[in-house]
Amino acid sequence: MHLSRLDILQVRNLQNVQIVCHPGANIIFGSNGSGKTSILEAIYLLGRGRSFKHRDLRVVVNNDADELVVSARIERVGPIGSHQLGIKRTAQGRFEARLDGKSLQSAVQLVEELPLQLIDAHSFTLLEGGPLQRRQFLDWGVFHVEHGYTALWRRFQKALKQRNQLLRHGRMDEDSLRTWTAELIPLSEQITGFRKQYLADLTKQVLAVAGRFDGLGVLELEYYQGWDDQLSLEQVLVGDRTRDIATGKTNHGAHKADIRIKVDGVAAAERLSRGQVKLLVYALKLAQGMHYQEKTGQSCLFLLDDLPAELDYEHRGQVVACLDGLGCQYFMTGVDKKDFEELVVGIAHKMFHVEHGMASVG
Ligand SMILES: Nc1ncnc2c1ncn2[C@@H]1O[C@H](COP(=O)(O)OP(=O)(O)OP(=O)(O)O)[C@@H](O)[C@H]1O
Ligand SMILES: [Mg+2]
Repeated sequence: MHLSRLDILQVRNLQNVQIVCHPGANIIFGSNGSGKTSILEAIYLLGRGRSFKHRDLRVVVNNDADELVVSARIERVGPIGSHQLGIKRTAQGRFEARLDGKSLQSAVQLVEELPLQLIDAHSFTLLEGGPLQRRQFLDWGVFHVEHGYTALWRRFQKALKQRNQLLRHGRMDEDSLRTWTAELIPLSEQITGFRKQYLADLTKQVLAVAGRFDGLGVLELEYYQGWDDQLSLEQVLVGDRTRDIATGKTNHGAHKADIRIKVDGVAAAERLSRGQVKLLVYALKLAQGMHYQEKTGQSCLFLLDDLPAELDYEHRGQVVACLDGLGCQYFMTGVDKKDFEELVVGIAHKMFHVEHGMASVG
């Protein structure tokens, strides 16, 4: 899967940008504030229905405009052929998405149409942030390879919300609590089953990719399911009763899961340097792309904001070689053209120079 053409209207300082994309490496260079990250932001909006930088899409719409539009031609291998995907954030604050002219009902459909991975200055939170980041990472993978995972996840969220609401009530409705607990347990177990299986499969790819990056050490990825795995969740919730009521929430379950990532036996976030953290994030996300490709026969798209930042020349080369080996499309930004020139020797690519919100082939 790749974008052959991208049209951006009124995304931050990009008022009207058209890009005929390369199916592999797309390099976007230009000075600070020129609009490089905004191009990635536009692609991300198209694939996720939200910004990766801002909660409120209002700030992403150009200051002098009422609405933004992003559309792209998506080419796929096989009989599915090509599609036109578009999103719009209207002046009234509505978000609209269309595939070949037909309205899409939810952002989930965008995610299915345009699977993408972003690595930017905040991606270190995958290792250094809380468990939510790592659960989202896992769920991205399971969602893309397991049909029905979204429905399961939604049922789980509903059961959890209902149970937590009951726990917060002054006078407990015991029957309802029993009902939602009984609903929550099997859903938690099913989610755990999918995530465990996915992580076991993914770990092989993570180790393969990380092995290509010099100096990362011996990696271990371990799944914490959100409760003591020597006990059933039912037993744990019985034991948690007083604490759950006191805190007004469910303290164990699939919503508390995490991936414990170690390097040479020590928590990765404590062990690694900043550049090595970034490399490990690349390894994790590239491995997801590889796994997705193996399972679906399609490739996902990579957005790499400021690739040269924090990575030395050797490691940048190793990352690009990996992406090239995957045969996927990627967009990478950086300030200096010369940082990329040697990097992409022998790799088919296209360069774009961004200046004051305008992009030209560079
Ligand atoms: N709503 C908006 N309307 C117009 N311009 C905006 C809006 N939001 C942000 N900008 C401007 O858009 C410009 C492009 O920002 P962007 O983050 O894309 O730059 P960049 O090329 O990635 O820079 P850097 O090299 O510093 O990362 C910035 O100058 C920013 O001030
Ligand atoms: Mg930027």
